[in-house]
Amino acid sequence: MKTEVKKITAESLREASELIRAGELVAFPTETVYGLGANAFDDDAVKRIFQTKGRPSDNPLIAHVHTDYDLKKLVDFDPPYAEKLRKAFLPGPLTMVYPSTNKVSPFVSAGGSTLAVRVPSHRGAQSFLKEVDLPVVAPSANRSKHVSPTSASHVLFDFDGQIPLILDGGRSEGGIESTVLDVTGEIPLILREGLITREMIASVTGKCEKYVRKEGEIARSPGMMYKHYAPACPAYLCESAEEGVALYRKLDQEGKNPYLMAGGVCLRELPPLRLLSLGDTPKEMAANLYEKLREGERVAGAVVAIRPKEQDGIMAGVMDRLTRACRS
Ligand code: TXA
Ligand code: MG
Repeated sequence: MKTEVKKITAESLREASELIRAGELVAFPTETVYGLGANAFDDDAVKRIFQTKGRPSDNPLIAHVHTDYDLKKLVDFDPPYAEKLRKAFLPGPLTMVYPSTNKVSPFVSAGGSTLAVRVPSHRGAQSFLKEVDLPVVAPSANRSKHVSPTSASHVLFDFDGQIPLILDGGRSEGGIESTVLDVTGEIPLILREGLITREMIASVTGKCEKYVRKEGEIARSPGMMYKHYAPACPAYLCESAEEGVALYRKLDQEGKNPYLMAGGVCLRELPPLRLLSLGDTPKEMAANLYEKLREGERVAGAVVAIRPKEQDGIMAGVMDRLTRACRS
């Protein structure tokens, strides 16, 4: 199969919509990362997402809808605080997990009773979802466990020859995936950290907690259990600039072609070595992380990341990804 990459135009949107309705997969941009989309009502198309990505079948998918889509078609229960959250943050990088009406394919929820719904703010994503006018399930458009894609070329690298069309909407500005929030209980629970932070959610709902899996309990969000976001080369996470530079020098002497990855305050403490710079602010670090991990696997024999000192707000989401990328 030839994989075409097309800029978003009326014509490519029509083609994308026809492909989705025919049960094919189409990759499309969002403000967080690119998604690999399929018709949420089509069992075979949903199964093909799991096959194409090599994704474990127990890991549920997010349904993406346009801003005018009637949520009641998909979800059964809606606590009052959820309405406030939608008003405050949607469209945008917040995915909400509701009790499902079970109208979509059962493979979407991986056998569970909840459904994750996201309304992306990216203009191209909205145009695509309006054209299709169906819920489109979409995981990040990367091979399972690989680094998530923030550009059409990243998607092509992972799926060339396996999908018919990639809609190219430029670079994803956010750079890390949406916050996943369980809204099935009295208090919203963060299942995955992202650009909409716990502080932002609590400022609307009063309370918000980070879900912590208890010993022996089945994870509420299976995705949180897996090694993820990993570049093809070895990646190490060091606690300080000193430790990072020492490891870099050791690997360099061994001829391993290491690159240092750092951002924020740490960046300014470093001697001039081969560097993958994440930028200065937490927002920049989120936007650059996956791009730099993918650059790292292209140019480096090993990536030595230094733990950024900033830890609040969206750095919680950045650290979650960086830690998993470096988990051996
Ligand atoms: O920003 C994003 O969310 C991107 C773009 C494409 O929208 N999508 C994305 O999808 O990151 P994916 O499949 O790579 O990650 C979805 C995460 C997984 O950790 C999964 O376990 C969790 O959301 N999830 C999906 N449905 C769920 C559900 N019903 N209950 C709990 N967790 C769920
Ligand atoms: Mg993913």
